[in-house]
Amino acid sequence: MIADLQQLEKDALAELDSARTADAVQAVRTKYLGRKGLLTGLLRNIASVPPEEKPLFGKRCNEVKERLEAGIAAVQDRQAQAQKEDVLAREKIDVTLPGRGIRPGRVHPITQIRREICDVFAAFGFSVVEGPEVELDYYNFEALNIPKDHPARDMQDTFYISDNMVLRTHTSPVQVRIMEKVQPPVRILSPGRVYRPDSDVSHTPMFHQIEGLLVDRGVSFADLKGILSAFLKKVFGEDTVLRFRPSFFPFTEPSAEVDIRCVMCAGKGCRVCGQSGWLEILGSGMVDPAVFQNVGYDPEVYTGFAFGLGLERIAMLKYGISDIRLLFENDIRFLRQF
Ligand code: FA5
Ligand code: MG
Repeated sequence: MIADLQQLEKDALAELDSARTADAVQAVRTKYLGRKGLLTGLLRNIASVPPEEKPLFGKRCNEVKERLEAGIAAVQDRQAQAQKEDVLAREKIDVTLPGRGIRPGRVHPITQIRREICDVFAAFGFSVVEGPEVELDYYNFEALNIPKDHPARDMQDTFYISDNMVLRTHTSPVQVRIMEKVQPPVRILSPGRVYRPDSDVSHTPMFHQIEGLLVDRGVSFADLKGILSAFLKKVFGEDTVLRFRPSFFPFTEPSAEVDIRCVMCAGKGCRVCGQSGWLEILGSGMVDPAVFQNVGYDPEVYTGFAFGLGLERIAMLKYGISDIRLLFENDIRFLRQF
């Protein structure tokens, strides 16, 4: 019996030694120390041990049991420790790695330009007003001296919503809406979106304009030229080359368009300026007396000038952007440069 006991201990320790998992260890424990285990079985057979050997046998059995318990506990400890180290290794954070970096958002270049222009004109005493993008035909055309079926309607291709409703083709209708409401003197600036079915490197179907209107007694074309030149030099720098070119708008008389020397080719002629060396950035003129009559101003008492400029054109010139569509693609690599 004592020999059996020694063999049992040897076997148990050998099995424990090769038990790799917590389950395997548990199996060894059940096999030897469980209620139906081998050691328990030996103890149960104590009846067949000669009486004089019983105390020794019992003592040995208990010693073996204690050693096995201790062995099992030690293996379980080792396994738990190894598991903990494994988790630590897997979840290790290298605090010396450089951070991921948070890229701050930027103001869109069109918004930057709009703010800059509004600031310049605020210094000249202009205040900012807004008008609707879905506009009555009356404000977009009729009140601006562009009757239905008049050839001047062809100057601006138009998205029609219905017979008397359009997506505004310019910000000029805001002039009329303001003059209907307030008496001179008027000094307003009106930024916003406008729409035309146009699309190429310098035209998009939606773009931004800023309208300016100044009405008072004794306003002359010299005032128009002075304010627009001062403004353009503020935005583009003192050395900017401008030209005032006679033009026509039904709502201004006389009218002028202002061009700026093409910054892409320095005036040599390129794809962006259509080989002309110049880029048109705004239309302007003295408010036509017919428009004053439409809003109830006396053209014998008041004169004024108005202008409408394309924000995208100004952004392109200022930042040297060769394709207007880049401004609307929202490619983050493009936008980050501003
Ligand atoms: C007008 O829209 C007139 N309302 C401007 C005006 C206002 C004249 C007040 C007199 C008095 P025009 O169609 O030329 O004019 O457009 C004005 C500017 O908008 C142009 O100089 C150009 O810079 C810009 N522009 C015109 N069409 C587009 C387009 N499809 N995409 C981008 N910019 C455009
Ligand atoms: Mg034009």
